[in-house]
Amino acid sequence: MKKYLLAIIGGLGLVAAISLLLNINTRPIAAQDKPFTAQFDSDGKLKRPTGYRAWVFVGAPLTPNALQLGGKANFPEYHHVYIEKRNVDAYLKTGEFPEGTVIVKELTRVLNPTFPDGSRTEPSGRGYFNGEYNGMDVTVKDSKRFAQTNNWGFFNFGHHAWPLEESSKEASVSECAGCHIANVAQTDMTWIQFYPLLRDKEHVSGSQLQ
Ligand code: HEC
Repeated sequence: MKKYLLAIIGGLGLVAAISLLLNINTRPIAAQDKPFTAQFDSDGKLKRPTGYRAWVFVGAPLTPNALQLGGKANFPEYHHVYIEKRNVDAYLKTGEFPEGTVIVKELTRVLNPTFPDGSRTEPSGRGYFNGEYNGMDVTVKDSKRFAQTNNWGFFNFGHHAWPLEESSKEASVSECAGCHIANVAQTDMTWIQFYPLLRDKEHVSGSQLQ
């Protein structure tokens, strides 16, 4: 009996040693390495994307409330835009986003304004600084589901402080897609002109995105 046990333990040790020698990696793949796939529920509502803050940050247009007539921006106030690296790479190569691309625009307020234009002074100068998270809009490229709106679906998860909506139904053309169709149909329904990483291809070398 003892002999058998020893043989088993010896065998296990051998397997461990071989694994080490062959450098077999048994760690699970980190979540952000897996391609993200848009999830829809049975009513066709999009589930709020997760993990997007680890995607490529392509830009941050800013529309402070205080600069708008009426004091309220449609999308208050910073618009942080995230796209998965594989989709950024594909756009840089082909000028189009692949089927399944998800773009997240996460809103933040400006940090506690002290001037009427919404700005404040910090050691770096007078200007705008990120305040708290304040909502999310998402676009999804799916030529079957969203053929009516140039292959992209538009979703609003709330323009307010967290918690945000857990799921969102496709927004109407007048609420969202219409403005993108009217202005950026030529650049895959996306405002490439505001994202230097995608716009100024000559400044992008592979090493900067590694
Ligand atoms: C009146 C025009 C207009 C409407 C309506 C509009 N957008 Fe946009 N959208 C823009 C502009 C301009 C930008 C880029 C600059 C910015 O964010 O200020 C943008 C950017 C975006 C982005 C970032 C990716 C990109 O296309 O550049 C997403 C995502 C987005 N919008 C989703 C939505 C959703 C969802 C709605 C409806 C709730 C919506 N948009 C309605 C004008 C509009």
